[in-house]
Amino acid sequence: MIAAARGPGEGVNETFQRRNSAFLAPCVCAAGEGRPIIHPMQGKRILLGVTGGIAAYKSADLVRRLRERGAEVQVVMTAAAREFVGPLTFQALSGRPVRAELWDAAAEAAMGHIELARWAELVLVAPASADFLARLSGGHADDLLATLCLATQAPIAVAPAMNRIMWANAATVANVATLRQRGVQVLGPAEGEQACGEVGEGRMLEPLEIADRVDLLLPRSGPLQGRRVLITAGPTRERIDPVRFISNRSSGKMGFAVAQAAREAGAEVVLVAGPVSVPTPSGVRRVDVESADSMLAAVLREVEGADIFISTAAVADYRPANPHGQKIKKTANTLDLNMERTPDVLATVAARARRPFVVGFAAETESVEQNARAKLLKKNLDMIAANEVGDNKVFECEDNHLIVLWRNARRDLGQGSKLSLARELVRLIAESYASSLGGARDSVQAQAQA
Ligand SMILES: Cc1cc2nc3c(=O)[nH]c(=O)nc-3n(C[C@H](O)[C@H](O)[C@H](O)COP(=O)(O)O)c2cc1C
Repeated sequence: MIAAARGPGEGVNETFQRRNSAFLAPCVCAAGEGRPIIHPMQGKRILLGVTGGIAAYKSADLVRRLRERGAEVQVVMTAAAREFVGPLTFQALSGRPVRAELWDAAAEAAMGHIELARWAELVLVAPASADFLARLSGGHADDLLATLCLATQAPIAVAPAMNRIMWANAATVANVATLRQRGVQVLGPAEGEQACGEVGEGRMLEPLEIADRVDLLLPRSGPLQGRRVLITAGPTRERIDPVRFISNRSSGKMGFAVAQAAREAGAEVVLVAGPVSVPTPSGVRRVDVESADSMLAAVLREVEGADIFISTAAVADYRPANPHGQKIKKTANTLDLNMERTPDVLATVAARARRPFVVGFAAETESVEQNARAKLLKKNLDMIAANEVGDNKVFECEDNHLIVLWRNARRDLGQGSKLSLARELVRLIAESYASSLGGARDSVQAQAQA
C-alpha cells in the first residue's frame, strides 16, 4: 500500500538538504570495530502531526531526534499548532515543506492528503491536544491531520500533552480508551510541573523518550524479527538495613550489549535491569528492579509470550535472612549476618512447562568451561556463554572473552568488545533457536563444532 518511494515534498527542498547535509546526515554509527551500524530507523518514513499545545515547541527537538536516527520526517501542523510555533522551524529541521492545509489546491491536484497517508510508515502526533484526541476518536476529517489519520493504514501513535485536569476529564479518558482499543499507541503523558503552573499527569514525554518509543513501533528486519526476547542484566542489591546492601561488581554492560544486538537483529526486547548506570539501548523496553526477588517477579511478569530468555544478570546467590528495619548501629566489635539463598531466576524460567529458549551466562573465576557446562546441564539450559571474571577481567571493562556451550558442542568467540561478542552470540542464539523450532538443534550444534 505504501506507494511513493519519493515522498511528498521531496525534491522541493533538495538545495536546503544539500546545504545542511552535515547536520541532517543519516545515522550511520561507528560500531567500534570499524564496521558501520545502520540505525534501524534509517530511511523510515514518519509523518509527524503537531497540534495546538504549549508542548509544540518540543516537537522541533523531536524532529531532530528522529532525523539523527535516520528517519525521514514529514511535518503536518494543525491551525492551532501554527499559533504556537512557525512552520519554518519544522521545515528547516525536517528538510521538507510543512503541510498544513486540507484546502491546498496545488497539493490536492494530486490528492495530496491520500498521498501523504500512503507515504507514512508511522503517523506520530506529538503533542496531541485533548481536542485532537477527541476528533481522532470520533473519526473526524475536518482538517488535514485528522483526514490523513483516517486515510492511513500505517500505525498511529499519539503523545498527549495537556493540563492535568483536561487529561483526567471523563471525556478525555473515554477518548483515550477508545483509541487504545483501536490499536492507537498512546505514549505517556508524563507527570510533573506543567506550563500552567500545576503539577500532575499531562506533560508530553521528552522528545528523546518519544523517539525511543517510536523505535519500538517500527517494523524491523533481521533473524529475530517478530520474536520477543527477554534479557536480564546487571547486579542485584540485597538489603541489610535501610541504608546498606550486599551486591556485586556486575556493570550490566554485557547484558545491555546483548539487548542492543537482539534489537538490531529485529527482536522486540525487554530488558530487566538491576541497578546500573548504562544507557538503555534504543528501542529496548527496560524494567528496573533491585533485588533477586523483584527481578524474579519482573521476569515472571514478562516471560509469558517470550520466545527467548537470556540471563546475563549477576543475581545474588545469598541475601541477609533478616534485614533490619532500622539502621544497624556501630556498637558491637563484630557483626554476624545470617544469609539465606535467593530465588534462582534462571532455573525457575528453565523449569517452566511452556518455557522459552533459555540461554544462561556463567561468570567463573576458575575452571570456567567445566563449571559452565555443569550449570548448563544442571539447570537444563539450551545454551550457555561462559566468561572468566575477576580483578581487571570483565567487570566494568569494555572487552570480554566468551565461550559458548551447547550440550554437545562449543564455540570460542575469542576476545573482543562486549558489543561485537554480543552480536556474534545473538547470531548463534538466532540460529540455534530457529533449529530448535524445527527440532534440528543437534545439526546446528554439529555445525558450531565444525
Ligand atoms: C495558550 C494556550 C495553550 C494551550 N495548551 C494546550 C495544551 O497544552 N493541550 C491541549 O490539549 N490544548 C491546549 N490548548 C487548547 C488548544 O489549542 C485548542 O483546543 C485547539 O483547538 C486545539 O486544536 P488542534 O487540536 O487542532 O491543534 C491551549 C490553548 C491556548 C490558547
